Amino acid sequence: MQEAKLRKVDSLVFRFLKQEEQRQKRGLVMIPSENFTSLAVLEALGSCLTNKYSEGYPNFRYYSGNKYIDKIEILAIKRAKELFKADFANVQPHSGTQANMACYFALLKKGDRVLSMDLNAGGHLSHGAKVSFSGKFFHFIHYGVKKETELIDYEQVEILARKYRPKLIVSGASSYPRKINFRLINNIAHKYGAYHLADIAHIAGLVAAGLHPNPFPWVDLVTLTTQKTLRGPRGGVVLGKKKFEKIINRMVFPGIQGGPFENVIAAKAVCFKQARTLSFKKYQEQVIKNARQLAKVLLKENIRLITGGTDNHLLLIDLRPLKISGLEAERILEETGIYTNRNVIPFDDASPNNPSGLRLGTPALTTRGMKEREMKLIGQLIVRILKNPKNKKVKEDVKKQVIALAKKFPYFKK
Ligand SMILES: Cc1ncc(COP(=O)(O)O)c(C=O)c1O
Repeated sequence: MQEAKLRKVDSLVFRFLKQEEQRQKRGLVMIPSENFTSLAVLEALGSCLTNKYSEGYPNFRYYSGNKYIDKIEILAIKRAKELFKADFANVQPHSGTQANMACYFALLKKGDRVLSMDLNAGGHLSHGAKVSFSGKFFHFIHYGVKKETELIDYEQVEILARKYRPKLIVSGASSYPRKINFRLINNIAHKYGAYHLADIAHIAGLVAAGLHPNPFPWVDLVTLTTQKTLRGPRGGVVLGKKKFEKIINRMVFPGIQGGPFENVIAAKAVCFKQARTLSFKKYQEQVIKNARQLAKVLLKENIRLITGGTDNHLLLIDLRPLKISGLEAERILEETGIYTNRNVIPFDDASPNNPSGLRLGTPALTTRGMKEREMKLIGQLIVRILKNPKNKKVKEDVKKQVIALAKKFPYFKK
């Protein structure tokens, strides 16, 4: 990207920005919630749209001058609805957490019961963790995974729904490597009179490409983030059935947010358009193939994977047999230029700050054009590091191979 002005005006920010660009170029980003957006998305983000205040919604704004902004937001809404087959879309949430917040505050009263996936089993902070607003405002009860299979315990979902009669059931996860049966959870929600919100933040790109079952037409509401598998800007979206449109819109603005980020909304519109293409579908297919290949290599080297593999874009390594902690693994890999993140695993005894798992994913590497061959090499590099965490020679060698590989797959091809 050209940042000639920035260099002149603020050399310090410019320098740090360039250093970060180099880090991304020279490393292997394997954090499953990260990706590289297209240049078209970046252009929309860095445009004059950031100058505009547009509190309200298309055709009803609290500021003048929104003629073109309205066209952009209407386009983003239309594309989001079509892509996910929803009755309505609110594209204003600044993040996935805020999309969830809008749904909770629209549907619930303080102290209402909500049933969601446990953080340790793969859920997200905004699904009722005590440190999050969600856990402070509402009474969350959690379902988990079965000990033997580490797959979602749908029977437990029903047992807890029957026992606690929650007002809302939240499905969706942050670190679950398998498909989620939204229809089954929806049946349970209906049986016990609960609303159902599916948070597809992680798998939105896979859903858009038809490679993971769409929660619609089953669920009441869906939230998602656009920055992960969807390859868009950082941001959130709420989708839903018609009857929730008014309460969600009112809750996003003025309920929990002020002026929308119209530059981000334009970038969301661009990513929705890109997500409808055949090349996007092929990309998502490759994301899954790459994750499977990576799993195969790791399993061959006797690395234990939660659930024994993956159906989606991410893998979760159980580090306990390797006698290395999540923090340690994340740090040593970072020193070689491989970016992953430490994560809790089901029934983890360790603390969330230094858990027993390591989460990795393939969206960003696949965006760079890497395929199964590269996954094989990367899997072997990761295994070498995890099995020899203190060996400096191994670290240096892996570092060199990471730089060489990253160089072969340029950062922005398109
Ligand atoms: C399932 C799920 N929901 C919500 C979020 C929150 O998204 P954000 O970081 O944009 O607030 C995440 C982020 O990782 C997530 O994994």
